Amino acid sequence: MIFTVAIDGPAAAGKGTISRAVAAEFGFAHLDTGALYRAVGVKGGDPIEAALSLTAGDLNRPDLRSLEAGQAASRVAVIPEVRAALLEFQRSFARREGGAVLDGRDIGTVICPGAEVKLFITASAAVRARRRWLELGGEAAPKPFEAVLAEVIERDERDMNRTDAPLKPAKDAVLIDTSALSIGEAIAAALAPVAAALSARATQA
Ligand code: CDP
Ligand code: CDP
Repeated sequence: MIFTVAIDGPAAAGKGTISRAVAAEFGFAHLDTGALYRAVGVKGGDPIEAALSLTAGDLNRPDLRSLEAGQAASRVAVIPEVRAALLEFQRSFARREGGAVLDGRDIGTVICPGAEVKLFITASAAVRARRRWLELGGEAAPKPFEAVLAEVIERDERDMNRTDAPLKPAKDAVLIDTSALSIGEAIAAALAPVAAALSARATQA
C-alpha cells in the first residue's frame, strides 16, 4: 500500500511527536525532514555540496537537535539548490511500500502535494518556545526563555518569508492548534483524519 501523511508546521509545534505516534499507530515509516536540513547546516563548507553528499553519519550526529543546528538549518534551507538536492530522496521515501509519514515545512505544499492526508500543526510562539526551553532544562537551561523565544520567532519568520517553499499550510491541510492540547490530545486529533482516510480507501477498494 502507498499512503503518505504530510505533516508541516513551525518549530516545536509538536510535529515530531505527532509523526512518531502516527507512524507507530499505522505501521508507517517516518522521515524527519528537518534532520536533513540540520545535517546540511552543521556540516559546514559549501551547503549545496553538503546536500548532494549527505551520509547516514551526517544524519546521526548527536548535535543535530541543538538550537544552533536549527538556526543553521533555516539559513541553508533558503537556498533553492539545497532544497532541490534533497527533494528526490524525500519523494521516494513518501511513496515507499507500506505507508510513510514525513514532517517538515513544505511536505504538503511542495514535496508531496498529492499526499493522502495533510496536517498543519501549530501553536502560539510563546507555547512553542516554552516547550523548547523546557527541553533545554527549563530554569537550568543555558539560555533564558526570552532568548529561546526570540530564536523561535526569528526562525519561523525566515521559514515563512523565503521565496522557495515557504512555510504555509496546504489548501487542503487539516489545521491542528496544539497550544492548549496535551500530547495525548494532540496525537488523538492527528490520528482521526488519518484513520478516516484509511477507512475511506478500504471502502473504495
Ligand atoms: O517536531 P516539532 O519541533 O514540531 O515538535 P516536537 O519535538 O514534537 O515537540 C516539541 C516539544 O513539545 C516536545 O518536548 C514535546 O514533548 C512537547 N509537546 C507538548 O508539550 N505538547 C504537545 N501537544 C506537543 C508536544
Ligand atoms: O524541530 P523543529 O520544528 O524545531 O525544526 P526542524 O523540523 O528540525 O527544521 C529545522 C529547519 O529546517 C527549519 O526551521 C527549516 O528552516 C528547515 N526545514 C525546511 O526548510 N523544510 C523542511 N521540510 C524541514 C525543515
